Amino acid sequence: MTGPPPMAADLVDGIYRNAASLQQQGRYAEAEAQYSRLLDYFPGSAALHYNIGLLLYAQEKFEASLEHYLRAMDDAGDDPDLLYNLGLCLQKCGRTGNAALVYEELTRLVPDDVDGLYSLAGCHRELHEYDRAAEVLGRLLVLEPDHQAATGSLAYLLHLQGKLDEACACYLRLLELHPGHQTARHMVAALRGERLGTAADEYVRTVFNGYADGFDDSLVQGLGYRVPEGLRRGVGLLAGADRTFAHLLDLGCGTGLVGAAFADICRCLTGVDLAEAMIIRTRSKQLYQHLLVDGIIPFLGATDGRYDLVTLADVLIYLGDPEPMLAAVHRKTTDDALLCFSIETAETPTYRLQSTGRFAHCPDFIGRLAAGTGWTVRHREVVQLRREGDDWIGGMLFFLDKDSGGH
Ligand SMILES: C[S@@+](CC[C@H](N)C(=O)[O-])C[C@H]1O[C@@H](n2cnc3c(N)ncnc32)[C@H](O)[C@@H]1O
Repeated sequence: MTGPPPMAADLVDGIYRNAASLQQQGRYAEAEAQYSRLLDYFPGSAALHYNIGLLLYAQEKFEASLEHYLRAMDDAGDDPDLLYNLGLCLQKCGRTGNAALVYEELTRLVPDDVDGLYSLAGCHRELHEYDRAAEVLGRLLVLEPDHQAATGSLAYLLHLQGKLDEACACYLRLLELHPGHQTARHMVAALRGERLGTAADEYVRTVFNGYADGFDDSLVQGLGYRVPEGLRRGVGLLAGADRTFAHLLDLGCGTGLVGAAFADICRCLTGVDLAEAMIIRTRSKQLYQHLLVDGIIPFLGATDGRYDLVTLADVLIYLGDPEPMLAAVHRKTTDDALLCFSIETAETPTYRLQSTGRFAHCPDFIGRLAAGTGWTVRHREVVQLRREGDDWIGGMLFFLDKDSGGH
């Protein structure tokens, strides 16, 4: 067998420099082609495999990238940059357990590698190894006490583990580091049982923009969420099997689960949500004619639409005080409109922010507000909203139509 003809050292150098320059300019495919030319001559070069791995990763070709990183590991298994990038790539390939092992090795070699520790904690968190994740974040925060993301992640983990006082202290620390941090502000209010009218828009956006990708799987498959189907069933029973609706307005539409449940009885669907990532997922399902990234109250103030069916599935838990919504929906709906929504129920005279960060409502309070804003509660139904740990969250579905007297 004969290999490729020898290449002059200055030509090798030229190709390498050209590849590096293309890489810097973000011309990833071209840079990859140049490095690959050299690979024919130096098949075992860790530097070439590493760079090609980086370029494939930048092009989101994660499995191919992984192959090259693994080849680079043959020769440079103790290179911290290689280990870090290998870990990232393994995560992208869904091999979180392997990624954790790689970050373990990285942080064994370089115990003060803050990025490595943060990624290691992220893997443990994803693997539901919360104690280990918290322990790694603790190590990180000794090295870098002002690390905001690590502080936020630790607060979240402590909250998840039911260590509410420690979680609150951690969110307070996050507020010290970043006074405008809306999630920290919201969670401190929730954990201290403070009275809040609604969740801040920024908090809702942060939660749901980060949740959009796994939302359908985790909520429907994982947690048994069936509120959209429950609302659809109730509307069918109340309105009769033959009634169709001209225009459904789905407030807090999320990933469009309500649209999927109601598409058969609605000629036009409009969805509104604060979280753009949720709207992007909904758009891909092609169920709604109109989708808007907006808050519920601002949207209702501005819309010229007249809707005959309005839904809020699992949204009042973030809305808090329902009165502004009830009044605004009343103004933007036809006389024969139906409004339906779910609440999480709680023993409280009105509504309250719970330590989970979600609002819960008293059913009778909803009834009183409905009457005060021109609505009649036609039907209400006790339901299990979704699983939380070993328990089900108790809730209620409400179905309202307009008082004949109007408002
Ligand atoms: C738990 S999800 C429910 C999504 C969807 N309705 C469903 O049943 O799958 C709550 C949604 O309400 C949205 N949301 C919460 N408060 C909002 C507000 N004030 N304005 C617009 N959207 C809001 C969130 O962004 C999120 O997508």
